[in-house]
Amino acid sequence: MALVIAILKETQKNEARVAATPETVKKLTSNGVKIQIESGAGNGANIPDGYYSDAGATICKSASDTLKSANVILKVAPPNTSEISSFPKGALFLSQINPYQNQPLIDAFAKGGIDAFAMELIPRISRAQSMDVLSSQSNLAGYKAVLDACEYYGHAMPMMMTAAGTIPPAKVFVMGAGVAGLQAIATARRLGAVVTATDVRPAAKEQVESLGASFIAVEDDEFKAAETSGGYAKEMSKDYQKKQADLVTEHIKKQDIVITTALIPGRAAPKLLTADHLTSMKPGSVVVDLAAVQGGNTAFTECGKVVVKNDVTIIGHENFPARLAADASALYAKNILNLLNLFIKDATLEIDWNDDIVKGIALTKDGAIIHPAFKENTPIKKQKTEAEAPKSKATSSKAKTKPAAKKTAATKKAPAKAKKDQKA
Ligand code: NAI
Repeated sequence: MALVIAILKETQKNEARVAATPETVKKLTSNGVKIQIESGAGNGANIPDGYYSDAGATICKSASDTLKSANVILKVAPPNTSEISSFPKGALFLSQINPYQNQPLIDAFAKGGIDAFAMELIPRISRAQSMDVLSSQSNLAGYKAVLDACEYYGHAMPMMMTAAGTIPPAKVFVMGAGVAGLQAIATARRLGAVVTATDVRPAAKEQVESLGASFIAVEDDEFKAAETSGGYAKEMSKDYQKKQADLVTEHIKKQDIVITTALIPGRAAPKLLTADHLTSMKPGSVVVDLAAVQGGNTAFTECGKVVVKNDVTIIGHENFPARLAADASALYAKNILNLLNLFIKDATLEIDWNDDIVKGIALTKDGAIIHPAFKENTPIKKQKTEAEAPKSKATSSKAKTKPAAKKTAATKKAPAKAKKDQKA
């Protein structure tokens, strides 16, 4: 029996993306995989049901029809706990799960016997770059943030010299120069703005400058050690935050548009703009906060809202990538396909639980929470220990799961550990 992959319609408000496109469906069905997609799943991304059926998918009327006999379930945004209870036991579930904020969901996956993989935990190693949803989605978010700012900014972005006078270029300040920030810099530069940017990671300086923007930061010893081995920022000390805020105080008064993108994995977004900073900005200035959903980088951000305070507009949309749903879906679906290609062999599911990518993203397995970052938080009393599990981790590194068959213990010895990837 062929492996069955179910693609569900998204249930969260403002989620217009879809986890598969006709292109990815075609690739999977041509490999003998059966695709069941819920009717209307592609509507938000302008993909009608007919495009999926032409690619070989079966269109299902409801979520429960879609889930029938499913071995793998795909979504973009985290499901809710009641959805999880309708997933077939033993299925593999892949979506963004926002695990640091969603412990009850992780518990529900374990309780329901669902093997859940969190797409945002894909490790930042070169082998996994094509699966990295944070990069693909943040890139689009950074671009869209600039366009959203333009919508509310009552001036032009580029310098314009006309017979009636000269319009000065907009001054754009990007706070956080990771994937989204760098794309925001590139987009604002293309529109003709004068761009400055800041970050706490020293590596960002060269990247910012290579895009034609000026770098501004408190470059002390703490800054020099602010990047983790995974490429992310560390939480900075109170002392550093104070120095950073002082640096921003003078700069912010002269800016027209500020785009904040600063995040620290597993923590609330750092507050980079205080009420004083925001009230010191020029009337008509616009702030776009890409970190709104993680608590926001500014004192006035309201998640899901556009607020105006003292003539400064603060945009805190909940889901920037979904505002470009067609492209965001195409890239997300490709990320998922690249990950599935690791597991699907001859239309059966073979998961190497010792693979670094799998170890990075697997939250639950066989009814237990297995990810070290979430294991100890679990209220589930009886976590399976290595000894209780059907086979210990040391001997059961490669689980081979036949489609539609009950999940069994691992059956194969691990292959030699893959060559350690280099961080790109
Ligand atoms: P992120 O979304 O976690 O954070 C956004 C940015 O905010 C980061 O650049 C971070 O340094 C910055 N930030 C955090 N606290 C700050 C503060 N107090 N003030 C100013 N900025 C602050 O990071 P993102 O965009 O996901 O990626 C970070 C880096 O990871 C990238 O720039 C890149 O170097 C690396 N990366 C590596 C990949 C790979 O090797 N496959 C793929 C994608 C990114």
